[in-house]
Amino acid sequence: MLSHNVDFVAWRQTQQDAVERALERWVRADAPAGLGDAMRYAVLDGGKRLRPLLVLATAEAVGGQSQAAMRAACAVELIHAYSLVHDDMPCMDNDVLRRGKPTVHVQFGQAQALLAGDALQALAFELLVPGDRTVADVMSARLCRLLALSAGADGMAGGQAVDLASVGVALDLPSLEAMHRRKTGALLQASVTMGAATGDVSRDTHASLAAFGACVGLAFQVVDDILDVTADSTTLGKTAGKDAAADKPTFVSLMGLTEAQAYAERVLDQAHDALRRSGLSHLHTLHALADWVGRRAS
Ligand code: IPE
Ligand code: IPE
Ligand code: MG
Ligand code: MG
Ligand code: MG
Repeated sequence: MLSHNVDFVAWRQTQQDAVERALERWVRADAPAGLGDAMRYAVLDGGKRLRPLLVLATAEAVGGQSQAAMRAACAVELIHAYSLVHDDMPCMDNDVLRRGKPTVHVQFGQAQALLAGDALQALAFELLVPGDRTVADVMSARLCRLLALSAGADGMAGGQAVDLASVGVALDLPSLEAMHRRKTGALLQASVTMGAATGDVSRDTHASLAAFGACVGLAFQVVDDILDVTADSTTLGKTAGKDAAADKPTFVSLMGLTEAQAYAERVLDQAHDALRRSGLSHLHTLHALADWVGRRAS
């Protein structure tokens, strides 16, 4: 168990470094009028890179194509980074701190933040369709579809709309779960299914991995709600206590801290169960990533 953990920490560091190098290369500074600077500020040198790690670990588990996997890993991170830039804007959560730095709109202005988000979203899809054909057309199309579905109206953007429409509203458990599955869960689930799409898996294996991704995604946002209450801004790299201050419905506001923690544990147990049903054999990194989601401090 301990040696597994040492392996995982080393694997995580190696992959985080590889993702950083790839992003550094793909998010270029030369977009006009300073837009490249705002894009790079939003993406580089920060964040846990959980979504890329899920893509890469799933791709490893299914023996997927490594070039496609790194492109998919970075594409998901670009969508995530864009969602954070917009999430922090005054018209949404109005946050001034992200990843330990002033938010993009504080640093570059609102118009540039809006455009940086737009451009990062476009770049994500560009990465999935390389001009040099290093990713087969069919695989590119499948990756684009998975990412589009998770980022759009029925995924992240739709979930964010529900989040904003729910200020001051006491959502019940099914509604809160549905919101979290969309706004955060969908992109985490897509990280897993895109990793799987870089290889060739059976329908059953795909279904188990998709269920794993959905559980990890839901648990992740429940833990985010918990950390908003239990952690401090320095540790989080973003302003703590914002959900209650903004009167957002969260798992903590619905069921209290202890029950929210137990809920996250239960959902993570379901994630591990789903993974065990996948029929794959090299799964310890994915199990470790699910544990990390539950135990992270930021
Ligand atoms: C924060 O995501 C926003 C949510 C979707 C809850 P992360 O906690 O993954 O943020 P970074 O990427 O590590 O900064
Ligand atoms: C954001 O959820 C989810 C996104 C799609 C960006 P939160 O608003 O809770 O994320 P944080 O707490 O600001 O990181
Ligand atoms: Mg938000
Ligand atoms: Mg926010
Ligand atoms: Mg939050």
